[in-house]
Amino acid sequence: MPTTVDRSSSPAATGAPAGRSRTRRQLRWAVPLLLVAVAFVVYALPPYLTFDPNRSRLPVPQSHPQYYPLLVAHIIFGSVALLAGCFQVWPWFRRRYPAAHRWMGRAYFFAGVFPAGIAVLGVAPLSSTGFVSQVGNTMLAVLWLATSIAGYRMARQRRFVEHRRWMIRSFALTTSIVVNRAWVILFVILLLPQVDTTFGGDQDAMIRAAAGASVWMSWVLNLLVAEWWLERGDARRRARRDAA
Ligand code: HEM
Repeated sequence: MPTTVDRSSSPAATGAPAGRSRTRRQLRWAVPLLLVAVAFVVYALPPYLTFDPNRSRLPVPQSHPQYYPLLVAHIIFGSVALLAGCFQVWPWFRRRYPAAHRWMGRAYFFAGVFPAGIAVLGVAPLSSTGFVSQVGNTMLAVLWLATSIAGYRMARQRRFVEHRRWMIRSFALTTSIVVNRAWVILFVILLLPQVDTTFGGDQDAMIRAAAGASVWMSWVLNLLVAEWWLERGDARRRARRDAA
């Protein structure tokens, strides 16, 4: 297996017409991905740019003064990671603008994942939505940092095939924050009829259960989808090589 250069999606490797149809196929997911990411940031970020704890959408624990500044840092740097990551995983963008890919990659890591991941390590154990969320988010933060550091190191060593694989895993974790919101809504809808039975009338306990399940669901499933995507790409490349 080649470890230094990933030319699997270059027009030269596939022929120009195949390259064009691949570019069109990529647009079908790259553009919606970017639009969803922008919508998420436009909705989530503004209250935290005021640096006013009273405008936080999450309860700020008075007993931990470090919580709010770390949360704000996490959200600002997390927004950089989410937006930059959309371009980084887009093969057409990587090929067309290799210099921009390198700069955005540095932004993704140094002004995105790394500071956002470190900051959230001080926030996740204090999450208001309970122990299951706290453990799930801390685990997510550690894996987010680990996959991104591995991806960055591979790029420094010019092992671009492995670099791509680690960064796809990293970005799957980055986007888990977006799908998390959809899971929370679904789980609240599912659990609402059980407030008076399973949760003994305690609505907060139901919300904590829904939030905890959605934290785990969002990143575990995203990571599994990323593995499937990588595996599928490998299988297709093997099939093309065997047919040649
Ligand atoms: C992938 C690793 C991530 C982890 C482990 C993580 C974890 C957390 C945690 C623990 C909280 C506080 C929850 C609470 O106290 O109940 C939080 C809040 C938040 N995070 Fe992240 N997060 C991650 C990625 C991101 C990204 C990429 C963004 C992009 C903008 C982001 C945006 C936010 C926002 C906006 C909030 C505040 C929620 C609100 O206002 O409703 N996070 N995150």
